[in-house]
Amino acid sequence: MRVGISNDHAAVELKFSVLEHLKEKGYDVVNYGTDTHESYDYPVAGATLAKAVQNKEVDLGIAICGTGVGISIACNKHKGIRACCCSEATSARLTREHNDANIICFGARIVSTELANDIVDAFLTTPFSHGERHQKRVDQIAAIEKEQNGI
Ligand code: RB5
Repeated sequence: MRVGISNDHAAVELKFSVLEHLKEKGYDVVNYGTDTHESYDYPVAGATLAKAVQNKEVDLGIAICGTGVGISIACNKHKGIRACCCSEATSARLTREHNDANIICFGARIVSTELANDIVDAFLTTPFSHGERHQKRVDQIAAIEKEQNGI
């Protein structure tokens, strides 16, 4: 599986820690984030990753900022992106199962390195539950996106 990771200046260390963890697990990881502490706006970090997911350059994405909130809001402005901001592994698993989330977000100022690893492991190993009720709701989200286009 090819995984994209992106981050702003608040999440450089956590990004590298997660990157190492994923490489050890054998994932093919593409780093779209900043590697320095110079100010790097989270909407920019989110957009680069969201576009990579849209273009299918990567299968799933991981987005990290200080809280995880700003970058998740930014990612969710992109068509077809379902980004979930969470601070524990259960939500990371359930957002794959129920929402077919394609980007997981969390905060470098909120979660520890161990918890971040648990979150990405849960997210990347859980498939979407292709049951009718879940698909119907994901389709409803896509319909809202379509309806809002041009407003
Ligand atoms: C940057 O200082 C900080 O605002 C950002 O990383 C993030 O937490 C925003 O949601």
